[in-house]
Amino acid sequence: MNHLIAPSILAADFANLQRDVEMLNKSQADYIHIDIMDGRFVPNISFGIPVCEAIFKHAQKPLDVHLMIEKPEDYIQAFHDAGAATISVHYEASTHLHRTLQKIRDLGLRAGIAINPHTNVQLLEDVIEITDLVCVMSVNPGFGGQKFIEQTYTKVRRLKEIIADANATTLIEIDGGVNIDNAPLLLEAGADVLVAGSFVFKSEDPIHTIQELKNVQF
Ligand code: DX5
Ligand code: ZN
Repeated sequence: MNHLIAPSILAADFANLQRDVEMLNKSQADYIHIDIMDGRFVPNISFGIPVCEAIFKHAQKPLDVHLMIEKPEDYIQAFHDAGAATISVHYEASTHLHRTLQKIRDLGLRAGIAINPHTNVQLLEDVIEITDLVCVMSVNPGFGGQKFIEQTYTKVRRLKEIIADANATTLIEIDGGVNIDNAPLLLEAGADVLVAGSFVFKSEDPIHTIQELKNVQF
Protein backbone atom coordinates (compact mmCIF):
# COMPACT_ATOMS: atom_id res chain seq x y z
CA MET A 1 0.00 0.00 0.00
CA ASN A 2 1.17 3.53 -0.73
CA HIS A 3 1.57 5.56 2.40
CA LEU A 4 -0.93 8.26 3.32
CA ILE A 5 -0.40 11.85 4.44
CA ALA A 6 -2.58 13.52 7.06
CA PRO A 7 -1.72 17.20 7.60
CA SER A 8 -2.74 18.37 11.07
CA ILE A 9 -5.02 21.41 11.03
CA LEU A 10 -3.70 22.31 14.50
CA ALA A 11 -0.85 24.14 12.76
CA ALA A 12 -3.16 26.00 10.34
CA ASP A 13 -4.09 29.67 10.57
CA PHE A 14 -7.34 29.53 12.56
CA ALA A 15 -8.36 32.96 11.27
CA ASN A 16 -8.16 31.56 7.74
CA LEU A 17 -9.39 28.03 8.22
CA GLN A 18 -11.44 27.90 5.03
CA ARG A 19 -8.42 29.02 3.00
CA ASP A 20 -6.21 26.37 4.62
CA VAL A 21 -8.80 23.60 4.16
CA GLU A 22 -9.13 24.56 0.48
CA MET A 23 -5.34 24.37 0.18
CA LEU A 24 -5.48 20.81 1.58
CA ASN A 25 -8.26 19.94 -0.89
CA LYS A 26 -5.93 20.89 -3.74
CA SER A 27 -2.97 19.02 -2.26
CA GLN A 28 -2.09 15.35 -2.21
CA ALA A 29 -3.20 15.05 1.41
CA ASP A 30 -5.18 11.86 2.02
CA TYR A 31 -6.84 12.85 5.30
CA ILE A 32 -7.25 16.02 7.32
CA HIS A 33 -6.05 15.35 10.86
CA ILE A 34 -8.13 17.13 13.52
CA ASP A 35 -6.67 17.45 17.03
CA ILE A 36 -9.24 17.85 19.78
CA MET A 37 -7.78 18.78 23.20
CA ASP A 38 -9.80 19.32 26.36
CA GLY A 39 -7.32 20.83 28.83
CA ARG A 40 -7.85 17.76 31.05
CA PHE A 41 -6.42 14.72 29.31
CA VAL A 42 -3.76 17.01 27.84
CA PRO A 43 -2.64 20.35 29.30
CA ASN A 44 -3.88 22.33 26.31
CA ILE A 45 -7.23 23.27 24.74
CA SER A 46 -7.46 23.36 20.94
CA PHE A 47 -11.01 23.59 19.56
CA GLY A 48 -14.19 21.53 19.60
CA ILE A 49 -17.19 20.22 17.74
CA PRO A 50 -18.37 23.43 15.95
CA VAL A 51 -14.91 23.95 14.46
CA CYS A 52 -14.83 20.34 13.28
CA GLU A 53 -18.23 20.91 11.62
CA ALA A 54 -16.95 24.09 9.96
CA ILE A 55 -13.92 22.25 8.56
CA PHE A 56 -16.16 19.43 7.31
CA LYS A 57 -18.29 21.94 5.39
CA HIS A 58 -15.31 22.84 3.18
CA ALA A 59 -13.29 19.62 3.25
CA GLN A 60 -13.05 17.28 0.30
CA LYS A 61 -10.86 14.81 2.20
CA PRO A 62 -11.89 12.48 5.02
CA LEU A 63 -11.57 13.90 8.54
CA ASP A 64 -9.24 11.94 10.81
CA VAL A 65 -10.31 13.03 14.30
CA HIS A 66 -7.83 12.53 17.16
CA LEU A 67 -9.58 12.90 20.51
CA MET A 68 -7.17 13.94 23.27
CA ILE A 69 -9.99 14.17 25.78
CA GLU A 70 -11.25 12.44 28.90
CA LYS A 71 -14.32 10.23 28.49
CA PRO A 72 -14.03 10.10 24.68
CA GLU A 73 -16.93 7.60 24.59
CA ASP A 74 -19.33 10.44 25.47
CA TYR A 75 -18.44 12.39 22.30
CA ILE A 76 -18.43 9.73 19.57
CA GLN A 77 -21.91 10.57 18.28
CA ALA A 78 -21.14 14.31 18.27
CA PHE A 79 -17.96 13.89 16.21
CA HIS A 80 -19.74 11.50 13.88
CA ASP A 81 -22.35 14.21 13.32
CA ALA A 82 -19.58 16.79 12.85
CA GLY A 83 -18.20 14.83 9.88
CA ALA A 84 -15.51 12.49 11.22
CA ALA A 85 -14.51 9.55 9.00
CA THR A 86 -12.09 8.11 11.56
CA ILE A 87 -12.19 8.67 15.30
CA SER A 88 -9.17 7.81 17.46
CA VAL A 89 -9.53 7.67 21.22
CA HIS A 90 -6.61 7.46 23.61
CA TYR A 91 -5.89 4.09 25.18
CA GLU A 92 -5.01 5.95 28.39
CA ALA A 93 -8.40 7.71 28.48
CA SER A 94 -10.60 4.71 27.76
CA THR A 95 -11.72 2.39 30.53
CA HIS A 96 -13.96 0.34 28.23
CA LEU A 97 -11.93 0.61 25.07
CA HIS A 98 -13.45 -2.46 23.40
CA ARG A 99 -16.94 -1.03 23.77
CA THR A 100 -15.83 2.40 22.53
CA LEU A 101 -14.20 0.98 19.39
CA GLN A 102 -17.37 -0.97 18.71
CA LYS A 103 -19.44 2.16 19.19
CA ILE A 104 -17.34 4.01 16.60
CA ARG A 105 -17.64 1.14 14.12
CA ASP A 106 -21.38 0.78 14.68
CA LEU A 107 -21.75 4.34 13.40
CA GLY A 108 -19.98 3.29 10.19
CA LEU A 109 -16.74 5.08 11.04
CA ARG A 110 -13.19 3.79 11.22
CA ALA A 111 -12.07 3.16 14.78
CA GLY A 112 -8.63 4.25 15.98
CA ILE A 113 -6.62 3.97 19.18
CA ALA A 114 -4.01 6.62 19.98
CA ILE A 115 -1.19 5.66 22.34
CA ASN A 116 1.08 7.91 24.38
CA PRO A 117 4.85 7.41 24.10
CA HIS A 118 4.93 5.42 27.37
CA THR A 119 2.19 2.96 26.37
CA ASN A 120 3.42 -0.47 25.32
CA VAL A 121 2.01 -1.66 21.99
CA GLN A 122 1.48 -5.15 23.46
CA LEU A 123 -1.48 -3.76 25.36
CA LEU A 124 -3.32 -3.54 22.03
CA GLU A 125 -3.11 -7.25 21.20
CA ASP A 126 -6.62 -8.08 22.41
CA VAL A 127 -8.34 -5.31 20.43
CA ILE A 128 -6.21 -5.16 17.31
CA GLU A 129 -8.76 -7.07 15.22
CA ILE A 130 -11.41 -4.42 15.79
CA THR A 131 -9.02 -1.50 15.35
CA ASP A 132 -8.75 0.19 11.95
CA LEU A 133 -5.89 2.47 12.89
CA VAL A 134 -3.34 2.87 15.68
CA CYS A 135 -2.09 6.42 16.14
CA VAL A 136 1.37 6.09 17.65
CA MET A 137 2.25 9.35 19.39
CA SER A 138 5.84 10.27 18.62
CA VAL A 139 5.62 13.26 21.01
CA ASN A 140 3.70 13.68 24.26
CA PRO A 141 0.28 14.85 23.09
CA GLY A 142 -0.89 18.38 23.73
CA PHE A 143 1.16 20.62 21.49
CA GLY A 144 2.32 20.92 17.91
CA GLY A 145 5.93 21.62 17.02
CA GLN A 146 7.61 19.24 19.49
CA LYS A 147 10.70 17.12 18.98
CA PHE A 148 10.21 13.63 17.56
CA ILE A 149 10.92 10.77 20.02
CA GLU A 150 13.41 8.37 18.41
CA GLN A 151 12.15 5.28 20.25
CA THR A 152 9.10 5.41 17.96
CA TYR A 153 10.84 3.34 15.26
CA THR A 154 11.19 0.33 17.58
CA LYS A 155 7.61 0.71 18.68
CA VAL A 156 6.34 0.77 15.11
CA ARG A 157 8.27 -2.41 14.28
CA ARG A 158 6.79 -4.20 17.30
CA LEU A 159 3.30 -3.01 16.45
CA LYS A 160 3.69 -4.13 12.83
CA GLU A 161 4.43 -7.66 14.10
CA ILE A 162 1.37 -7.68 16.34
CA ILE A 163 -0.82 -6.64 13.40
CA ALA A 164 0.72 -9.27 11.12
CA ASP A 165 0.37 -12.02 13.75
CA ALA A 166 -3.33 -11.20 14.07
CA ASN A 167 -3.78 -11.09 10.29
CA ALA A 168 -5.33 -7.67 10.81
CA THR A 169 -5.47 -4.78 8.35
CA THR A 170 -4.91 -2.06 10.97
CA LEU A 171 -3.05 1.00 9.71
CA ILE A 172 -0.18 2.50 11.71
CA GLU A 173 -0.27 6.28 11.95
CA ILE A 174 2.58 8.40 13.34
CA ASP A 175 1.74 11.67 15.04
CA GLY A 176 4.20 14.30 16.25
CA GLY A 177 7.40 15.83 14.95
CA VAL A 178 7.17 14.14 11.55
CA ASN A 179 9.37 15.69 8.86
CA ILE A 180 11.13 14.80 5.63
CA ASP A 181 14.14 13.36 7.51
CA ASN A 182 12.32 10.86 9.73
CA ALA A 183 9.56 10.03 7.21
CA PRO A 184 11.59 7.41 5.24
CA LEU A 185 12.71 5.71 8.45
CA LEU A 186 9.15 5.61 9.77
CA LEU A 187 7.84 4.14 6.54
CA GLU A 188 10.62 1.58 6.53
CA ALA A 189 9.69 0.61 10.10
CA GLY A 190 6.11 -0.03 8.96
CA ALA A 191 4.16 3.24 9.19
CA ASP A 192 1.19 3.67 6.84
CA VAL A 193 -0.02 7.19 7.67
CA LEU A 194 2.12 10.22 8.49
CA VAL A 195 0.55 13.13 10.37
CA ALA A 196 2.40 16.42 9.92
CA GLY A 197 1.44 19.76 11.41
CA SER A 198 4.26 22.28 11.69
CA PHE A 199 6.35 20.72 8.96
CA VAL A 200 3.54 21.33 6.45
CA PHE A 201 1.95 24.56 7.62
CA LYS A 202 5.11 26.41 8.64
CA SER A 203 6.76 25.64 5.32
CA GLU A 204 6.88 28.19 2.52
CA ASP A 205 4.83 26.09 0.14
CA PRO A 206 2.58 23.63 2.05
CA ILE A 207 1.22 22.00 -1.14
CA HIS A 208 4.76 21.23 -2.25
CA THR A 209 5.74 20.00 1.23
CA ILE A 210 2.78 17.58 1.24
CA GLN A 211 3.87 16.34 -2.17
CA GLU A 212 7.42 15.80 -0.87
CA LEU A 213 6.09 13.72 2.02
CA LYS A 214 3.87 11.78 -0.37
CA ASN A 215 6.80 11.05 -2.69
CA VAL A 216 9.14 9.74 0.01
CA GLN A 217 10.77 6.47 -1.07
CA PHE A 218 12.16 4.01 1.43
C1 DX5 B 1 -0.06 16.69 19.16
C2 DX5 B 1 -1.02 16.45 18.04
C3 DX5 B 1 -0.41 16.39 16.69
C4 DX5 B 1 0.23 17.68 16.27
C5 DX5 B 1 1.36 17.34 15.35
O1 DX5 B 1 -0.69 16.53 20.38
O2 DX5 B 1 -1.73 15.24 18.22
O3 DX5 B 1 -1.32 15.95 15.71
O4 DX5 B 1 -0.65 18.54 15.60
O5 DX5 B 1 2.03 18.51 15.11
P1 DX5 B 1 3.55 18.53 14.65
O6 DX5 B 1 3.61 17.85 13.33
O7 DX5 B 1 3.84 20.00 14.59
O8 DX5 B 1 4.33 17.82 15.71
ZN1 ZN C 1 -2.95 14.35 16.46
